[in-house]
Amino acid sequence: MAANDSIFLGANEAPGQQSVQRCDACGHDLPELDASPACPRCGGLLAIIHRAPVDSMGAPSTPAALQHAFAQHCCARPSGHASGVWRFEQVVMPTAGHAVTSHPEGNTPLMARPRVSAWAGCDGLLLKHEGYNPTGSFKDRGMTVGTTQAVRTKATAVACASTGNTSASLASYAAQAGIPGLVFVPAGKVALGKMAQTLAYGATTLLVRGDFDECLRLVQRASKELGIYLLNSINPWRVEGQKTIVLEILQQLGWDVPEFIVLPAGNLGNTAAFGKALREAHALGLIARMPRIVSVQAAGAAPFAKAFREGFATRYSVQAETIATAIRIGDPASWDRAVRTIRDTDGIVLSVTDDEIIDAKVQIDAAGVGCEPASAASVAGVKQLVRNGVIKSGDRVVAVLTGHVLKDPGMLVELHQQRDDFALANRPVEIEASVQAVADVIARRAATTERA
Ligand code: F0G
Repeated sequence: MAANDSIFLGANEAPGQQSVQRCDACGHDLPELDASPACPRCGGLLAIIHRAPVDSMGAPSTPAALQHAFAQHCCARPSGHASGVWRFEQVVMPTAGHAVTSHPEGNTPLMARPRVSAWAGCDGLLLKHEGYNPTGSFKDRGMTVGTTQAVRTKATAVACASTGNTSASLASYAAQAGIPGLVFVPAGKVALGKMAQTLAYGATTLLVRGDFDECLRLVQRASKELGIYLLNSINPWRVEGQKTIVLEILQQLGWDVPEFIVLPAGNLGNTAAFGKALREAHALGLIARMPRIVSVQAAGAAPFAKAFREGFATRYSVQAETIATAIRIGDPASWDRAVRTIRDTDGIVLSVTDDEIIDAKVQIDAAGVGCEPASAASVAGVKQLVRNGVIKSGDRVVAVLTGHVLKDPGMLVELHQQRDDFALANRPVEIEASVQAVADVIARRAATTERA
């Protein structure tokens, strides 16, 4: 069997089935309700291949009809698909019907913020803020689909390894579905907000003495041996949900393709999902050309950026270290899929230092937008590409902010209250309860601003 480079099912393939799970490596097909975490023949990653949508007469849906259908679902009643994921159900999970575990999620804003644009040097910059999802990160888009599949396959428990956001999302959706959740996180390396959410939503939380990469290896072994449904981003249904970040961006832009879509990259699940979304949208005639995907890694966790510079001749893994704990990943799981995304979109992979991430985050925060450290890597990446002349003035660029500012309050308290070397620190001032004390603070602030 050939490797899986299909976009949609061919007319004679998989008769009677709307979607199959196909092995990336050997092309072996599994029915859509099979719960295997990987190809049972060769261990390769599974991907969902749908039948292309058709109209009521069985003819291929036109781009206009699909765009109309996607818009119809937008903001539907609570009993309908009031979700920025499920209104794309025809290309996400066409057979789900209304039996979905949905918060709802998605429908996140695309923002223009002059302060951030000016700092990055890119007038055409828009921020797609995935921190507006119910648990505060883009993970909810994949988790609603993955959890729906867990229910459909009658899973008795669900599990993931996580740097924190996937675990918060899994905990929430598993609680809604009434399925026990089990999460594996690196001990001492998860941001406070994410840990708090995971505990609050009731997942069994295992603090593994090791890094994320070890957690992932452990959960893969444990889920196989203990028969637990795996909900990491190598789960093909998670990828289907995460595709909707791109579909929603395109819809918000009236299907007018931007020049660049820039995102932070760790385990490379999102980079993989973005490429799949774009290949399908292109094949369906929804878009006339591909935007260039830019994946941005933290310099201390950048095996994919290193490989990109060498034409992807080698697959690297590194011992990861970065302040952006969400992307503190040294051996990304969706490597080959992400390579395909970069190749298919004439994409770029780069790395930014922790200082560049902090600088970008401070600007995003001070604009009143806010995001977690890893998310700011995308805007830091835009600034670097403007500096290098790759992004030109007039280019339309969408930077994805993947998580909410409250995900990592510990880092913010340290930055603003405890670090002496941080010039932009916004220190709180303790005062006596008197109007005079308030006036003194205002006067001191005014004097400082004038001097600056
Ligand atoms: N941004 C945030 C806020 C994340 O939480 C993650 C990944 C990424 C970017 C990178 O996305 O892995 O698809 O390349 N977080 C995972 C987790 C690993 O466990 O929450 P990716």
